[in-house]
Amino acid sequence: MLTVDDAFRKFKSRLELNDREQANASARQNEVRDYLDTKFKIETSFLTGSYKRHTKTKPLKDIDIFFVLKDAERHYRDKAPSVVIQDFCDALVAKYGKDAARKQSRSVNVDFGVFVDAEDNTDYRILSVDVVPAFAKGQDYEIPDTDSGTWIKTNPKIHAEKATAAHQAFSNEWKGLVRMVKYWNNNPKHGADKPVKPSFLIEVMALECLHGGWQGRFDREIQALFATLADRIFDTWPEPAGLGPAISNGMDNARKQRARELLTAASRDASLAINHERQGRHGDALAGWRALFGKKFPLS
Ligand SMILES: Nc1ncnc2c1ncn2[C@@H]1O[C@H](COP(=O)(O)OP(=O)(O)OP(=O)(O)O)[C@@H](O)[C@H]1O
Ligand SMILES: [Mg+2]
Repeated sequence: MLTVDDAFRKFKSRLELNDREQANASARQNEVRDYLDTKFKIETSFLTGSYKRHTKTKPLKDIDIFFVLKDAERHYRDKAPSVVIQDFCDALVAKYGKDAARKQSRSVNVDFGVFVDAEDNTDYRILSVDVVPAFAKGQDYEIPDTDSGTWIKTNPKIHAEKATAAHQAFSNEWKGLVRMVKYWNNNPKHGADKPVKPSFLIEVMALECLHGGWQGRFDREIQALFATLADRIFDTWPEPAGLGPAISNGMDNARKQRARELLTAASRDASLAINHERQGRHGDALAGWRALFGKKFPLS
């Protein structure tokens, strides 16, 4: 029999990044880099964001790649952020097609057209990357933000260090819990609009909302985490490196209200599943967790 603890461990490992996926991400990075080198003067490029920190959920999509531009491209920094985004998009459309490359507020998304099966598997391939043009600024980077029409500062190293510190302080279970809640956030039952936007906010909140140390049970930690996220979704959540705009700016009040309701419902569903288990209804407990998280949560 699959215990609830075994099921959570299996779920956790299914959301872990493996070698074949890393090899594919790296090959895609090189492919995009080799092409963009023919269009722009690029100093360096690197995989970053939640992918690099191991807080990205599955299926792997929108993997962030920073393309740090050389001084020869400085002219872009003096222009509106939309100019560099447009030029990167035009270049990527020329290679990948207009249905595969599209503008986002801080990046250009390139979709590789990978098939996702009924179990959310992709044959170890990544679905898409977010191409982020960047300029080095001391230890930080400046990236275009077309929503605000300004260049914003960021520092992936500080974000990575905070995530690592939180993970270590939580008996190395922190990243696994973050990936699980991000998987819940992507569950199709919520419709096209994710409960929490951006999903980076889940990670930022978890830096503070998972405290007191790992108590040894996934079911209770997850239930408590949903409850705390619901309680604190209306708080202001500054960017963890203190450089960019607050991460909580991504939702208006109506959207936060909806997030609170969905997080509260998740915490209630988690309590019900814990209760099923306590009363010996093991199958119902597993089914409850599966319904809450989605298809990567195992039933056997
Ligand atoms: N407001 C911000 N200011 C500065 N840096 C930010 C801000 N928002 C995000 N970032 C940085 O940019 C990275 C990419 O942003 P993104 O929204 O893709 O988040 P993510 O952590 O990669 O989550 P996801 O799993 O949804 O891709 C973040 O990981 C973070 O390091
Ligand atoms: Mg990302």
